Amino acid sequence: MTQQQPQTPTDPDAMLAQLRQQVRDGWEKGADFFDQRWGDQGDEFHHGVFAPAAERMLGLEHGARVIEFACGNGAFARRLGRQGMRVLATDLSPALIAHAERRTETIADQAMDVAYQVADATIEREIVNCGGPFDAAVCIMGVMSMPLLRPMFGGAWRILKPRGIFVVVTLHPAFATSGYKFAKSEQDGEPHGLTIERYLSRYVTHGVTNTAQKEPQIYFHRPLGELLADAFAAGLVLDGMEELAAPQQEIEQSRLMWNVLPEIPMAIALRFRRP
Ligand SMILES: C[S@@+](CC[C@H](N)C(=O)[O-])C[C@H]1O[C@@H](n2cnc3c(N)ncnc32)[C@H](O)[C@@H]1O
Repeated sequence: MTQQQPQTPTDPDAMLAQLRQQVRDGWEKGADFFDQRWGDQGDEFHHGVFAPAAERMLGLEHGARVIEFACGNGAFARRLGRQGMRVLATDLSPALIAHAERRTETIADQAMDVAYQVADATIEREIVNCGGPFDAAVCIMGVMSMPLLRPMFGGAWRILKPRGIFVVVTLHPAFATSGYKFAKSEQDGEPHGLTIERYLSRYVTHGVTNTAQKEPQIYFHRPLGELLADAFAAGLVLDGMEELAAPQQEIEQSRLMWNVLPEIPMAIALRFRRP
């Protein structure tokens, strides 16, 4: 029996629909695995580096109304909820939203104002349907999975209050989503730097969120200038940025090699504001 290769459509709308489906299928299939790996607070990258950076940049006051895009199993939503924020957390994957709800329902020690909704952040109307107005929006490690960013920035602009903040934390496009390889030392074979082979053009690639992951995710590389251009085109302005190194660990304990490269920022946190 011959196996049929899936047809690649040539019409741009059909291509986009196929990419959205591929992204959704990837997160849906891996949802139980991701939920287990991330646990209640996210992995060491999330709770050690990304979440604290997002929190610093959001600078929220108690009771602030926040929307999250690409919330996964809800680690950051619960973190904000425990601090008294009112959170609507959204994700493309119904299976991950179900994990987020289950993990949040089992927190009995305090009343939290955290709700979840399935929404595709590459479709502006799905964001606008989330209501608002919100004091702030946040997206942690989501943009690499999105074939389009303009709808998320446009949607955020429409549901944020004037002066509202949108913090995006993502893999650093110059280092961690561009065509890179870890450069290993000839003496001991340990990574001591990176070789970057491509950066300026957009492309689709595959990667893992941790080394135990069997099936890689589809990722979309775009250079930093293009990411920012989509936000600026939506009317947002950039007013803060931090470059973030991985949490440091000895090589034996390191889950991804980034942990032993403290001088190379694997992630970037960007703060946009709606004027
Ligand atoms: C690496 S995980 C990050 C999850 C969470 N923010 C965290 O930091 O633990 C990426 C998440 O993006 C979600 N995602 C991917 N594409 C999306 C889209 N178009 N709209 C909303 N969520 C999306 C996935 O379902 C997944 O939960």
